[in-house]
Amino acid sequence: MTEKTAKLTYGDMELELPVHTPTVGPDVIDITKLYSQGKVFTYDPGFTSTAACESTITYIDGGKGELLHRGYPIDQLAAKSHYLEVCYLLLYGELPSADQLEDFESRVTNHTMIHEQMMFLFRGFRRDAHPMAIMNGVVGAMSAFYHDSTDISDPWQREVASIRMIAKMPTIAAMAYKFTIGQPFVYPRNDLDYASNFLRMCFSVPCEDYQVDPILSRAMDRIFTLHADHEQNASTSTVRLASSSGANPFACIAAGIACLWGPAHGGANQACLEMLKEIGTPDRIPEFIARAKDKSDPFRLMGFGHRVYKNFDPRATVMKQSADEVLDLLGVENNPTLQVAKELEAAALADPYFAEKKLFPNVDFYSGIILEAMGFPTSMFTPIFAVSRTVGWISQWKEMIADPAMKIGRPRQLYTGESQRDYVDIENR
Ligand code: CMC
Repeated sequence: MTEKTAKLTYGDMELELPVHTPTVGPDVIDITKLYSQGKVFTYDPGFTSTAACESTITYIDGGKGELLHRGYPIDQLAAKSHYLEVCYLLLYGELPSADQLEDFESRVTNHTMIHEQMMFLFRGFRRDAHPMAIMNGVVGAMSAFYHDSTDISDPWQREVASIRMIAKMPTIAAMAYKFTIGQPFVYPRNDLDYASNFLRMCFSVPCEDYQVDPILSRAMDRIFTLHADHEQNASTSTVRLASSSGANPFACIAAGIACLWGPAHGGANQACLEMLKEIGTPDRIPEFIARAKDKSDPFRLMGFGHRVYKNFDPRATVMKQSADEVLDLLGVENNPTLQVAKELEAAALADPYFAEKKLFPNVDFYSGIILEAMGFPTSMFTPIFAVSRTVGWISQWKEMIADPAMKIGRPRQLYTGESQRDYVDIENR
């Protein structure tokens, strides 16, 4: 925090507002006392210019296309690290030593099973339920099963809740999938790594052996890593807002899952692959580009554009390389969806509309192609995003609870409704 200030002149008032200087990124004008001193609010729908918290976890420079977790660039983490190590980094602030990593992995591994009674929850859903609907319900219900880790004032309980959610989320997502396709649940296997265990829980059946392909496992792990955290995005802000009331961690993460589901956020990966399939062949690309540019048509290019990235999304760059590698390694030649995606990307990037608005492919543009090649149906794309993002939500939640400045989130409004008027009896209306 520095001595800098900003002056706001409003009417005959002049207010001096403190300015905070972050480690990197633009300065932040502190308006916390604006209402008590100036009796005015600020108006910023969608929080486009508002920092809602102080954080040390993730930094994004949208102009440079940079994403750092605790200072480490995402491309380095995607290439050299792996998901559970990144989880440790996000949760505890530093890369682990070999002993710390072993201990962390063993703690996560020991919590992969879910309470047996929770199986009955799945059976209460319709078979055609979206797996996100099931995850939302089941994760919220965890607070009814793990009473010993719901007291947020106890750091030990917070730690146990964190490990439980990171460990159980793949199990819950895989069970949601198995339920919707009518196959038996597959229990986790603790001798497998995080990604391999998830793939096995999704694709193995009791009647035959299932060997996890290390290529797929590595690709899965990279997808988890690329989605692990993303600063104060909509679902993370939802988790923070929900937890600001003191709600238990399972309820807060369920709130994050609900927010993630929307097509403007985590639901974009499903919507993007569906769009690429609908386009079908490269000759239809101009028609879809025209629709995306037409203001009277609500259609948008899914997997394109980002609130913060205005140059490129570094996750999309890694994801595109990964799509090529995975399809190549799986021996998938001339994948028509990948072909459409690449030509659509090239056509959009060459179009002045997208250039002027700084719209580039985001993480969701290529992830669906990889997930489909791995055998996942589109309905599992967003649940996989939820599994990956759980550590981000939890890291931000833990940071917030431990912050002495934490208070209940309570935005104000620009009220444009009726001013006070008298009630009119029904016969006189
Ligand atoms: N296709 C066509 N036009 C677009 C698109 C798009 N994908 N995205 C933004 N625009 C236009 C938009 O119409 C607007 O034009 P104008 O200024 O003329 O009104 C301008 O670009 C700015 O858009 P915005 O909606 O004000 O920007 P935003 O920051 O509020 O929205 C976004 C960001 C990601 C919601 C939006 O780009 C979008 O809807 N993209 C498609 C959905 C998507 O891929 N979401 C995944 C985001 S990355 C993963 C995640 O965070 O979950």
